[in-house]
Amino acid sequence: MTSPDLKWWQSGIIYQIYPRSFQDSSGDGVGDLRGVTSRLGYLRSLGIGAIWLSPIFPSPMKDFGYDVADYKDIDPLFGTLDDFDELVRGAHEQGLKIMLDFVPNHSSDEHPWFLEARSSRDNPKRDWYIWRDPSPEGGVPNNWKSFFGGDAWTLDPSTGQYYLHQFVSGQPELNWANPEVRREMAETLRFWMRRGVDGFRVDVFWLLGKDPEFRDEPRNAEWRPGQPIHNSLEHIYTQDLPVTHEYIRELRSALDEFDDRMMVGEIYLPIERLLTYAGTPDAPECHLPFNFHLILTPWNAADVRKLVDDYDAAVTAANTWPNWVLGNHDQHRFATRVGKAQYRVAQTLLLTLRGTPTVYYGDEIGMEDGYIPPERVVDPAALNQPEVAASAGRDPERTPMQWDATAYAGFMGSAADASSPAEPWLPLAQNFAAVNVAAQEADPASDLNYFRALTRLRAESAALVSGSYRSLNAGEGALIHSGPGSLTGGSYQNVQAGSGVFAFLREAAGERVLVLLNFGAEDVQLSLPERVGASLLLSSQPQGAGAEVLRGNEAQLWRVGS
Ligand code: NOJ
Repeated sequence: MTSPDLKWWQSGIIYQIYPRSFQDSSGDGVGDLRGVTSRLGYLRSLGIGAIWLSPIFPSPMKDFGYDVADYKDIDPLFGTLDDFDELVRGAHEQGLKIMLDFVPNHSSDEHPWFLEARSSRDNPKRDWYIWRDPSPEGGVPNNWKSFFGGDAWTLDPSTGQYYLHQFVSGQPELNWANPEVRREMAETLRFWMRRGVDGFRVDVFWLLGKDPEFRDEPRNAEWRPGQPIHNSLEHIYTQDLPVTHEYIRELRSALDEFDDRMMVGEIYLPIERLLTYAGTPDAPECHLPFNFHLILTPWNAADVRKLVDDYDAAVTAANTWPNWVLGNHDQHRFATRVGKAQYRVAQTLLLTLRGTPTVYYGDEIGMEDGYIPPERVVDPAALNQPEVAASAGRDPERTPMQWDATAYAGFMGSAADASSPAEPWLPLAQNFAAVNVAAQEADPASDLNYFRALTRLRAESAALVSGSYRSLNAGEGALIHSGPGSLTGGSYQNVQAGSGVFAFLREAAGERVLVLLNFGAEDVQLSLPERVGASLLLSSQPQGAGAEVLRGNEAQLWRVGS
């Protein structure tokens, strides 16, 4: 490692596995822990530092594991606690850290706590969840909505009260105002840390606190019919409440009882609000508040540059550590979003920016959204909101990993033979015969090997892992220019501002790396004078590399003199 003073979650790359879809070892069509363990060699070969597993706990799977029925066990679909211990051991042997998905905002409605809570109004567990009487007119207590469509309240007929759920009705929200709940949740973290877990991704962290008066949320004037109903309100009473920071600090102290553990919070907020979730040196909160802004920003050089400049400046001012994400199990695949032509530009950006990158499984081979026929749709976000299913449905980005060109892309291993009745829980993306790990292993110019080249360069470069970031302005540096002319006098204008090129410098003591990303389809003339000591480290289009041109849709990395 080039920067020994950094923590593993600062220098390493986090790789998200959606366990249902990674590798099925049992032949039931759903991926499992033994499947992941069998692929540790592959995972290590990617040059990543940590694996984050989406939820693997016992669950009725109404939201595919984000409805937890027991926080301290493994769902039989995925295996056993022994299988989990084996995975932790194997990962650690390969030098990989293991992170779990912690879902503290809500449990399953089949969790014993909720079964007790709903059994009577005076059950001791009643207050572990959020109950309200019907409104005076009858009906829901207030206007709060679910992310998955409809009201955020469901009536429990036998006790006559509504319970809160901002996702499916099978995900009742825990009452974080109750200290017993908070104690139990901290205990859950300890349970897994004692088993060797290195860190946690924390689900909907900014939703924990709720308005104690349960006031109606104001209408969002921007909302139009046809958009998800959840967006019709300004979420001032269900999101980003000050008390949430107290809850997070409590969990953080539980983490800090153990060496070198971390948590990354799922938080969708504007940059300034987001960074408050890192806390302060005296009162730390999340090690990393997930930065999803690359997913949310229009894909062009000017907007992306502005985002990166703003975020980097805000992180520097807040004296915290940056991070970047291009994809996850809730967002359409980035190869689909930005288009195949821009895929390597996006991958290069993710892996060369300042901060910890999180990679979604399959993105290293350029997996795209799969087509899900209507009868195979299983995601509640799509099923409950047919009017917005195309944008809100998450099945397309959760299709099985494409290992090879055999039946079911090798996802079910040797279990996938004609005599087996099982098939993968989601259909394979149609392109699996062409886009798969085996084919790409064999091709030095593949997306997979490009990914590895990037992670290797990153690991070997202090500038890329921990160096400063500075975007380059028009005319700056005399490194590149857009038209014929002298090496140092050429105009840089068209390069940065108009043509869709984003250029930035990463710099550490004695090392400077220049990253050139062409967001446009037009070639751009370059002059990288030898006299400033520039040498090409990597191009996303190796066949065209070396010429004094940045091709349309090309990414280049240069080592430059200081
Ligand atoms: C965010 C998770 O990423 C998503 O998949 C899930 O549906 C909701 N939280 C509810 O847990």
